[in-house]
Formats: sequence, structure tokens, C-alpha cells
Amino acid sequence: MELYPITPICLINKHWIEGCTFVTSLNMMKKIIITLDGFSSCGKSTLAKQLARELNYVFIDSGAMYRAITLYFMRNHINWNNEEEVQKALTDINLDFDYNDSTGSSDMLLNDENVEALIRDMLVSEHVSEVAANQYVREFGVAQQQKLGTRKAIVMDGRDIGTTVFPNAELKIFVTADPAVRVERRFKEMFEKNPNITIEEVKDNLEMRDYLDSNREFSPLRKADDAIVLDNSNLTREEQLNIALGWAKQKMEE
Ligand code: CDP
Repeated sequence: MELYPITPICLINKHWIEGCTFVTSLNMMKKIIITLDGFSSCGKSTLAKQLARELNYVFIDSGAMYRAITLYFMRNHINWNNEEEVQKALTDINLDFDYNDSTGSSDMLLNDENVEALIRDMLVSEHVSEVAANQYVREFGVAQQQKLGTRKAIVMDGRDIGTTVFPNAELKIFVTADPAVRVERRFKEMFEKNPNITIEEVKDNLEMRDYLDSNREFSPLRKADDAIVLDNSNLTREEQLNIALGWAKQKMEE
């Protein structure tokens, strides 16, 4: 009988890899909550997706939830400065995520309709920060986000995740990038879908949202005292991932 050397082979993230040690140890490690907060277009979602993929965690884009609520308000002519209208409208909104195999992340469902592409439109971006500043909208969003985190093993990005949604999260990262870099990145992303967009429009929108998000009364954007700052202005995607993964593994071993 011929004997073969036994090399354990495991399936991780749809790639066969040699050696189960890493996978097994990941599975045995403590499940944690990772929060990523920061200004608009600083690469939070990109990093959150990368981390979730590597750790086999669920990625939740909290901004998509506020964008979907904004879309609903716009379509249904809800005046977001009117308390009663907002409270009533929120009872008619059902938000959900649906995993999309081709993008490798989840699409936003608004009352069972896939609105992933629509919510990224500039029309929604122009109003989302006003809507997200509303007290009832925040209570609604935060409650849903907290429910999604009950089983841990999640990476959630947003503005108030480390301060309000999960103040006890094991790892909090505050992502920053140079404003010019952020404008350039968002412009490239939006230009692919809408060649009529100008860099000025993108810049104005980011500045306006950063101002409103940082200065609102309820859950303003700010760094949690125990968050680690990650400035990715001069980092490649791979470099930022390796840094954040190092922090995550440290927390998972504690
Ligand atoms: O992708 P980008 O950084 O431009 O924004 P986003 O994460 O899609 O969030 C869109 C908007 O939702 C933000 O400008 C905030 O006004 C709001 N938001 C919030 O208030 N709280 C969160 N946790 C996430 C987003």
C-alpha cells in the first residue's frame, strides 16, 4: 500500500488552501464585534468588507440603511422635519440585507425591493445626512443595528457605531484619509456610473455631509475614546487590511 504525506486542505472563502491551522484557529478564536467609523468616503466599507471576508464575519453597511430610509422618504414625499410624518413612515419601512454572490457583499432591500444601486445615487447622497440627523430615524437605525450584532462576529461601518451602537465593541477603528484623496476616490467611483458628475459636486457633497454628520445633536460622528486611528491616505488596500487584521487577531486572542 502506498502512503501519501497528509497535508490538510481546507476550504476558506471559496479557495482551497493548504494547512488547516489558520482556519481552525480562527474558528476557535473569540468572536468579536469590529466597528469602523469615519468621515464620508474614507474607505471604511472597503476595509470592512475585506476584514469580514478574511475573518468569515458578516459585514454590515449601516450607511446603506440610512440611505434606504432616505430613498423611502423621498419617494413618498415624507417631510423629515415633521415628527409625526417620520414616526408613521418608519412603521412602514422594512430593511433587510441580501447576499449578492457576484459582488461578494450584501445588497440593501427596502420593503423587499433591491435598492442597492438607487441608494448610491447623488440625489440620495444630497439628503441622507439631514434624514440621518432625525432623532426617530436614529433610534430606528440604531435598534436594528444592535439586533444584527447580538451574535457577534460582525464588522459594521458607519459614523456612530463605536460610540452609540456598540460602545462595548472589542475592536474600534476610526478610519481617516486626506480630504483630497477622499474626493478623488469617490469621484472615480461615481464617474463610472454617471459620467456627467463633476468633481466639484462630489467635493461639495462630502464636505456638506461631514459637516452635518459631525455637528448633529443625536449620535454625531466622532472618534470613540478607545478607537484606534487608521489613516489610509498612503496605504494600499492590502496594507490597510494587514494592519487591521493584526489588531483584530490580537483582540480575538485576548
Ligand atoms: O459611503 P459614505 O462614507 O459616503 O457614506 P455612507 O456610509 O453610505 O453613509 C451615508 C450617510 O448616512 C452619512 O453621510 C451619514 O449621514 C449617515 N450615516 C449615519 O448617520 N450613521 C451611520 N452609522 C452611518 C451613516
